Amino acid sequence: MSGRFVTFEGIDGAGKSTHLDWYVERLRSRGVDVVQTREPGGSPLAESLRELLLHREMSIDTELLLMFAARRDHLERLIRPALAAGQWVVCDRFIDSTYAYQGAGRGAAIQRIAWLEQWAHGDLQPARTYLFDLEPALAARRRAAARAPDRFETEDIAFFERVRAGYRARADADPSRFVVLDGGRAISEIRVILEQDIATIWNI
Ligand code: ADP
Ligand code: TYD
Repeated sequence: MSGRFVTFEGIDGAGKSTHLDWYVERLRSRGVDVVQTREPGGSPLAESLRELLLHREMSIDTELLLMFAARRDHLERLIRPALAAGQWVVCDRFIDSTYAYQGAGRGAAIQRIAWLEQWAHGDLQPARTYLFDLEPALAARRRAAARAPDRFETEDIAFFERVRAGYRARADADPSRFVVLDGGRAISEIRVILEQDIATIWNI
């Protein structure tokens, strides 16, 4: 039996990380064998590429290619072997981040991203994607209170408006995969929705 692949997405500060550990624990409490990981990163080489991506200046094309190089290594070394062994993989960001940030945010051609996606991972797509949707100004205030910014988080509100719109377009195009969560709601309310979703879609 092969495992299931779940991703968390959203603009920086929308609330992904707040729910990710909790979600993984909820799966484990139901007896699911889960691997928790993140992008860019998740394998030793991809974590090294993450350092460059988050802190070094580079062109849009270099950024796009490095994202896919990191993803390819992560897929080969961690995601595909885990799924093949029947484990579930819960990943903080995946391909939708690339369409939203490099595509909608930075203006990289969508066709180019689609071509790289096909090359790097073919048909492998998440079974479920939780999109944390939040107004960029509020997300920026939450981030400012929580941590020092990386190279993406220093972008202006207009950038995050484009990224948010990019995400929403992805969700609209694939409503059976996406669950769009209002990041402006209370943490406890969001958890109730996640808990219900776990029970309904996987019947566990
Ligand atoms: P992300 O992982 O999406 O970048 P985080 O989970 O790190 O975002 O959240 C950013 C900040 O916002 C954190 O300080 C977190 O405690 C806070 N936060 C997250 N979700 C909520 C929420 N629903 N209501 C209020 N504050 C929140
Ligand atoms: P993240 O791990 O969410 O940052 P943090 O640890 O600060 O919460 O993501 C790192 C950044 O990488 C985030 O700003 C979005 C960016 N990113 C892309 O631009 N494209 C991608 O394909 C991925 C996976 C991430």
